Amino acid sequence: MRVSAYLDHAATTPVLPEAAAVLVEHLSRTGNPSSLHTSGRAARRAVEEARETLAGALGARPSEVLLTGGGTEADNLAVKGLFWARTAEDPARRRVLVSAVEHHAVLDPAFWLAEHAGAEIVLLPVDGEGRLRLDALRDELAAHGAETALVSVMWANNEVGTLQPVAEVVALAHAHGVPVHADAVQAVGQVPVDFAASGLDAMTISGHKVGGPVGVGALLARRELGLVPVLHGGGQERGVRSGSLDVPAIAAFAVAVDAAVCGREATAGRLAGLRDALVAGVRGAVPDAVLRGPADPTDRLPANAHFTFPGCEGDSLLYLLDSAGVECSTGSACQAGVPQPSHVLLAMGLDEADARGALRFSLGWPSTRDDVDALLAALPGAVDRARAAGLAGGPGAGRSAGARSTAGVA
Ligand SMILES: Cc1ncc(COP(=O)(O)O)c(C=O)c1O
Repeated sequence: MRVSAYLDHAATTPVLPEAAAVLVEHLSRTGNPSSLHTSGRAARRAVEEARETLAGALGARPSEVLLTGGGTEADNLAVKGLFWARTAEDPARRRVLVSAVEHHAVLDPAFWLAEHAGAEIVLLPVDGEGRLRLDALRDELAAHGAETALVSVMWANNEVGTLQPVAEVVALAHAHGVPVHADAVQAVGQVPVDFAASGLDAMTISGHKVGGPVGVGALLARRELGLVPVLHGGGQERGVRSGSLDVPAIAAFAVAVDAAVCGREATAGRLAGLRDALVAGVRGAVPDAVLRGPADPTDRLPANAHFTFPGCEGDSLLYLLDSAGVECSTGSACQAGVPQPSHVLLAMGLDEADARGALRFSLGWPSTRDDVDALLAALPGAVDRARAAGLAGGPGAGRSAGARSTAGVA
């Protein structure tokens, strides 16, 4: 089946031509940046130039850029590395504050620390639009600031696109001497992201969400944090992260981030217009569809639209749209073939039935009006069929048989 509309750019977006060119160019070169000979030094130069480009695009110093094997690794390093560093300094600081809508790459390391390293997890609540409740953070820090190791709140949510009040979080946490990490994987290239200006202590970015390759990312981290390593070995990255550096991927990653940041205003403006047309079109085609996340479009990622469709299973809708050539995401995870409602939607106060009817449509640099039109053409029929399947089988019917197992939404 020909794909007529790819609307899952938040999961991964095509590699930008300029990044692909750099990737291919470097693939034919040899040299480990840790080697001392000419080829090694050339590879080192490519890595350090990429580091400077990344730092320049994101308002960081080159020495603050720790290259990793993607966003998940950077999130693990931030949460575990900060926790271990803080508890080594002061064993009383065992509380880990994370928003309830974090990606699993933040939530799961935090829960791992609770299970294996004596951390106490505090899930910070969000409002009905998925925005962190600052009053809850304020109260939590007032009561337990001296026992808190770190706060992690994402810059923008990957499911419903909600932008979080990063500056306010930093101000509250720093007043208690608590470092703040933000997962900015979805934010870079869509909204302005400046590491120094944000006041953050650590920030995660990933290659394949911005037109770079998959399997490369970075943690921007202030040098004085004393992060404890997660990966041990040759200590290639500041002694904090080990593993031979993937020069082609790193060089292409830097080109992609630079292009995404330089072109952000124009691309985000164009995609916001398409997104608004998509939202209006979905509402026109399926009047009882409910837009989730912020009602004010300026409070959400410009490339994100997220709906729940009453009476439908998101999974059924996804496969029906897929068979019409339209690709999107449900935002929920599967366990043993049974779709689980999204933890993000549940944290926003939806009940399980509503949360099961979720679909996320996310745009990216190649998106056009044709993608939106293809969705709008296929959607009414898919919704009718998903509803009929749901009604025919009672509660839970319409779940696609043998639904694929996933670990969570990208
Ligand atoms: C918000 C967020 N954080 C982290 C990740 C993980 O990044 P990566 O796929 O580079 O490991 C993703 C993507 O799935 C994401 O959307």
